[in-house]
Amino acid sequence: MPPGFQHLGGETVTGTLALSVFTAVLGSFQFGYNIGVINAPQKIIEADYNATWVHRYGELIPTATLTTPWSLSVAIFSIGGMISSFCVGVISEWLGRRKAMLINNLFAFIGGSLMGMAKISRSFEMMILGRFVIGAYCGLASGLVPMYVGEIAPTSLRGALGTLHQLAIVTGILIAQVLGLESLLGSEELWPVLVGVTVLPTVLQMALLPFCPESPRFLYIIRCQEHHAKSGLRRLTGRQEVGDMLAEMKEEKRRMDMERKVSIAELFRSPMYRQPIIIAILLQLSQQLSGVNAVFYYSTSIFQKAGVQSPVYATIGAGVVNSAFTVVSLFLVERTGRRTLHMLGLFGMCGCAIVMTIALALLDSVPWMSYISMLAIFGFVAFFEVGPGPIPWFFVAELFSQGPRPAAMAVAGFSNWTANFIIGFGFQYLAELCGPYVFLIFAVLLLFFLIFTFFRVPETRGKTFDQISTSFSQHPPAMMDLDMELGKRSTELDYLGGEGSLD
Ligand code: GLC
Repeated sequence: MPPGFQHLGGETVTGTLALSVFTAVLGSFQFGYNIGVINAPQKIIEADYNATWVHRYGELIPTATLTTPWSLSVAIFSIGGMISSFCVGVISEWLGRRKAMLINNLFAFIGGSLMGMAKISRSFEMMILGRFVIGAYCGLASGLVPMYVGEIAPTSLRGALGTLHQLAIVTGILIAQVLGLESLLGSEELWPVLVGVTVLPTVLQMALLPFCPESPRFLYIIRCQEHHAKSGLRRLTGRQEVGDMLAEMKEEKRRMDMERKVSIAELFRSPMYRQPIIIAILLQLSQQLSGVNAVFYYSTSIFQKAGVQSPVYATIGAGVVNSAFTVVSLFLVERTGRRTLHMLGLFGMCGCAIVMTIALALLDSVPWMSYISMLAIFGFVAFFEVGPGPIPWFFVAELFSQGPRPAAMAVAGFSNWTANFIIGFGFQYLAELCGPYVFLIFAVLLLFFLIFTFFRVPETRGKTFDQISTSFSQHPPAMMDLDMELGKRSTELDYLGGEGSLD
């Protein structure tokens, strides 16, 4: 843990808390690893698909036919994620957060084994199925991990610990990019190891999870197990006296007991939840429609088109910048707040997208523009990690109290994965259609999300879950009219105690 942690909010990070967060984010690590792993070895895996075809049919695979199994191998990952993320609510309530994470590892085992054995079994179908199953694992992890971490974190460290989910994702992406180099595991013989090695963090997570306590909020508020919740709290905080925390949960439980069970439909119907769920969805969309995965899925070809000489190394450079700035966000999020960092990130990304467009448009006449476009991509990624990368993941867990949280995580996760799929699939067509101007589309979207965040997203730093959700019920929504007059703005944004306003 960084030394500044103990200082923040005067909270101590106990060994149990550190272990529990570390164990949980092993799931996030796998999520990142499987995003990054498919980029570099494309040509080599395609060659194997070809060999399989020759083995089966005695002829080379036609180029057009080859595109299908390859695109499927890439995109089916997001489809697996879309489907499973939608089930996060039901599964986490049924099994509890910890057991759900434990059982989810079965998917990682099956997915990793299918992918790792695809070459030896001469079956690209196995690879495609494996990508689907590992996508399902990642979809569940992308909901379960931020939920568990958000629930066990002390209020003053919720943002910093929540950012560790993203830090583990970006570390996974970077390690996959590096291992994917042809001189390491991205070779003709070793690519099955590259894709199969994802089972290793699974083994570690399964070994460690039994030592991590179940979320005390879940035990107390949902399962009414006060005794177990108390002992979990004691282990996580290192304190014997946990009455204050229990009292806060009691208040949340009291309020929850008065409500009906919150279904997904209810989130949209009830005026109390409509505002936070729209904010949650738009934040997830701002993350994905910012265009960041256009960079992570297609960086090598973007760098190539921009005239960069070693595109593979530039891709790794982007991965390094990506990780470094997530660390920056980790240290800033409890000081600067979620809202400001998110807006700063969106604003910076928008600027970089414009610079990139100008650089690409001028590339033919001004050769050194290739350096500018590379810097613009690095800047784009850096600003992403300052806010739009980490914040939406844990912000959703913060916006909702115990009752509606699982359903909200499911809706938010589903929105994220769907948008991820759309960009993953659509970007290449868009790039062909718009040429150097493709990033202007993202600039416009980023501007929209910036305006939305400015007018509608509250600050949640330092607030308990109960304070956050109560503030929404006190301010029934006058939703979504972004053309709201300036005069009304400060009062509406102040609904979380004044920190939301930029005025
Ligand atoms: C976020 C996104 C993911 C993206 C990654 C890049 O975690 O959810 O789609 O690839 O950031 O760092």
